[in-house]
Amino acid sequence: MSEGTVMAQSLYFTFVLSCLICGSYGLVSSGIGITTVRSVDYNATTTVTPTERRDSTTKPSTTQSNKSTNAPAVRLTSTTTSKVLTTTTRPPKTTTTANYSFNTEDLNEGIDKKVEKRVWNKEPEDEPLEFAKWSTRSVKAVKKPKKIWKNVKKPKVLPKKRKPKVVKKSKPKIIGRPSLPECPPLGLESLRVKDPQLRASSYKRRGLGPHRGRLNIQSGIEDGDIYDGAWCAQYEDKKQWLEVDARRPTRFTGVILQGRSSIWSWDFILTYKVQFSNDTLVWQPAMNGTKEAVFEGNQDTETPVLALFNESATVARYIRINPQSWYENGTICLRAEVLGCTLPDPNNIYAWQQTEQGTKDKLDFRHHNYKEMRKLMKSVSEACPDITHIYSIGKSHMGLKMYVMEISDHPGKHELGEPEFRYVAGMHGNEALGRELLLNLMQYICQEYKLGNQRIVRLVKETRIHLLPSMNPDGYEMAFKKGSELAGWALGRYSYQGIDMNHNFADLNKVMWDAIEFDFQNNDKSKLINHYIPIPEYYTSEDAFVALETRAVINWMQNIPFVLSANLHGGELVVTYPFDRTEDWAPHDDTPTPDNSFFRWLATVYASTNQVMSNPDRRPCHNENFQRYNNIINGANWHTVQGSMNDFSYLHTNCFDVTVELSCDKFPHASELPIEWENNKESLLIYMEQVHRGLKGVIRDKDTEAGIADAIIKVDDIDHHIRSVADGDYWRLLNPGEYEVTVSAEGYNPSTRMCRVMYEHYPTICDFRLTKTPKQRLKEILAKGGKLPKDLQLRLRQLRLRKLRASTKAINSRRAAASRKARGS
Ligand SMILES: *[C@@H]1O[C@H](CO)[C@@H](O)[C@H](O)[C@H]1NC(C)=O
Ligand SMILES: *[C@@H]1O[C@H](CO)[C@@H](O)[C@H](O)[C@H]1NC(C)=O
Ligand SMILES: *[C@@H]1O[C@H](CO)[C@@H](O)[C@H](O)[C@H]1NC(C)=O
Ligand SMILES: *[C@@H]1O[C@H](CO)[C@@H](O)[C@H](O)[C@H]1NC(C)=O
Ligand SMILES: *[C@@H]1O[C@H](CO)[C@@H](O)[C@H](O)[C@H]1NC(C)=O
Ligand SMILES: *[C@@H]1O[C@H](CO)[C@@H](O)[C@H](O)[C@H]1NC(C)=O
Ligand SMILES: *[C@@H]1O[C@H](CO)[C@@H](O)[C@H](O)[C@H]1NC(C)=O
Ligand SMILES: [Zn+2]
Repeated sequence: MSEGTVMAQSLYFTFVLSCLICGSYGLVSSGIGITTVRSVDYNATTTVTPTERRDSTTKPSTTQSNKSTNAPAVRLTSTTTSKVLTTTTRPPKTTTTANYSFNTEDLNEGIDKKVEKRVWNKEPEDEPLEFAKWSTRSVKAVKKPKKIWKNVKKPKVLPKKRKPKVVKKSKPKIIGRPSLPECPPLGLESLRVKDPQLRASSYKRRGLGPHRGRLNIQSGIEDGDIYDGAWCAQYEDKKQWLEVDARRPTRFTGVILQGRSSIWSWDFILTYKVQFSNDTLVWQPAMNGTKEAVFEGNQDTETPVLALFNESATVARYIRINPQSWYENGTICLRAEVLGCTLPDPNNIYAWQQTEQGTKDKLDFRHHNYKEMRKLMKSVSEACPDITHIYSIGKSHMGLKMYVMEISDHPGKHELGEPEFRYVAGMHGNEALGRELLLNLMQYICQEYKLGNQRIVRLVKETRIHLLPSMNPDGYEMAFKKGSELAGWALGRYSYQGIDMNHNFADLNKVMWDAIEFDFQNNDKSKLINHYIPIPEYYTSEDAFVALETRAVINWMQNIPFVLSANLHGGELVVTYPFDRTEDWAPHDDTPTPDNSFFRWLATVYASTNQVMSNPDRRPCHNENFQRYNNIINGANWHTVQGSMNDFSYLHTNCFDVTVELSCDKFPHASELPIEWENNKESLLIYMEQVHRGLKGVIRDKDTEAGIADAIIKVDDIDHHIRSVADGDYWRLLNPGEYEVTVSAEGYNPSTRMCRVMYEHYPTICDFRLTKTPKQRLKEILAKGGKLPKDLQLRLRQLRLRKLRASTKAINSRRAAASRKARGS
């Protein structure tokens, strides 16, 4: 999400910390090689063969292969520069990829030991998450050999050392807080705690009021507006406090503190005290034995720091954070989260675990790291083997697989006329909610399908659904290790190599706009390309700074004929639609696609059914109020992004893609997951159903009935074409209305008909039967060594004459115009 703020941070880091995350802003598309793409050679049009254009194999970049991640070579569309822009009528054929399937993954297989060691920095068997299982196993293993060793008299090797090691390893976690799990956040970050629940001793101005003292809240680029980056006290003394009203008796267990979000100011708290009260009149300090506890605060403005209380006397309704010292050249500013278990029932102090579930669905609501995600996906496919298929589209830099759950009534296959849909989550690894929602969604679809839920059955039968829960598994593991509250705002966003994947796709917008400008200058509108724009050569070279993960996704997009997609992010509440890039480098500017009205519809479908976004009483997340725009916005009008996945998808494939920013909190605490599922469940379902809007059909050869691949479907004056896929089937997403549709294909006469799109959730069938052009028939007959029929010979001659007359006329009129101009000037 919010590049603005992250960009602000990175700008800051660039200055102060000598560029921690450079490379995240449009490195790939920074203009290298773009001039080569521009050197257009219109004469080469007919010489290009389809295979030349698409079948270049690109090995993973050498800069990425330090540790041999066994990354498979990835196919990317490569283009011979000069021919790129001219071949608009020639489809880039997917000759070798018409299969549309990826191999099934066997999740019973263990994880590669080397990967295990690399990612978790541990010996394979030393796995904390499965501690219980492992310890029993290891005890058994220890016991059995004992006997043998006794007999063999080799006591020296007795694995005595291993046993204590087990105990030792497990203990530190529990020592601090025996038998009591940590309480969840009250929700300053997630906004579960409302603005009126926050008060302060004083504040500098409204934009720095107590309602801004929330963990991870982001300021705008400028300081000083109403959306500033912390609570800041008006006075600099030790009597200042930020107060949270939990509204119920609560057992407080800790505080998480963070400095101020700002590019220009550097403010954070070094030490602080905490007080509790039931009435705001009598305050009791947090103690450390017999002394008042003084907690360690921050060393910088970004890193969240956790302090846990001693168990005594922490039940209260109110809590105050009371700064004692702060960064010497700054002032008293902080962002905070409070950990606490609310106590409605004195006999059940972990009430949050049983109540407040927020949903009736029985799904696995917790954060799943890579291993747990594998287990969950495996369990879903075991529960619903008939409608699921798990495959991997490639590996991350560290060697983690990018698993996809496919759900369809014929998993593993493309069916004629059945549209393909995808959800992609976790492109920014720390934006973790989308990942869990997709894991919820696959469980939910499996369960409801088995129960015969009509809506789900229909969806599964009529759609091929692909769910990629983790596009950046390396980044996710980094954030997951720190945990949902302590990962901060940017840790895990980038790939292991520091690449922001949403800036990492080929910038086809520039290719397109350059071509338009070129053609405009040359007064030649016919050559404009508006779809299937090939990838520029510089991007496919081996040393292009393109993440393995990005390459894998591009390969996936090229191999499966997706029609509709959404890209799940977090950290804001808004749905954005392409284009994501402004044309003239403006920081933001409305930059619509030719399909703007349908994209706005798509965005609205999600935003208006999401229970948080559509709540008129919600407060803005950070520094922008998207409610003013009904929670949807053109991506480029928010902030320009070069090389985004959505723009790439629209310009390189048939697929329409939007971005959903799911929640203010990028990495919500596990206790928030049930309610977040409920907030998004309807939106996730209804959005998928949109894949059935508009037109669809099959384009066939009139004589042979064979499907025609790569036919171009033009609709009215919408300047964006769609192509038919391998068997001649196509989908054209459209709002209701009546459209003139023209289909053309190489070797065939174009065909036009009117098709009406209805309001219902099912597409209008609009099939085409094309007849071969005489020239094509001639070619085929000659190729077979046959004789030309008389009538065909005649028609060909007529055609040639007509063409000649037309071009002579054009030349004459051009000459006339030129001489007029010459006389005029
Ligand atoms: C295209 O062909 C014309 C005529 O054959 C020639 O004059 C022109 O230089 C060629 N253009 C390029 C870019 O090769
Ligand atoms: C590659 O390995 C070298 C030496 O082991 C190390 O300094 C460097 O950071 C590594 N690069 C990457 C991208 O992992
Ligand atoms: C498609 O690919 C799968 C797996 O690679 C293979 O088993 C199948 O035979 C292929 N089908 C066709 C029609 O090529
Ligand atoms: C608040 O009230 C509860 C009982 O209702 C009591 O156990 C607790 O000690 C009180 N806390 C403070 C800070 O007075
Ligand atoms: C908790 O209090 C005990 C004394 O009662 C003290 O030894 C210990 O350091 C305290 N721990 C924390 C985290 O304050
Ligand atoms: C608690 O007291 C111990 C011993 O004096 C000290 O080391 C520790 O830092 C104190 N902790 C807090 C949070 O005050
Ligand atoms: C605070 O500012 C003074 C004066 O500019 C400078 O000498 C000092 O090093 C700064 N302190 C810190 C911790 O940066
Ligand atoms: Zn994001």
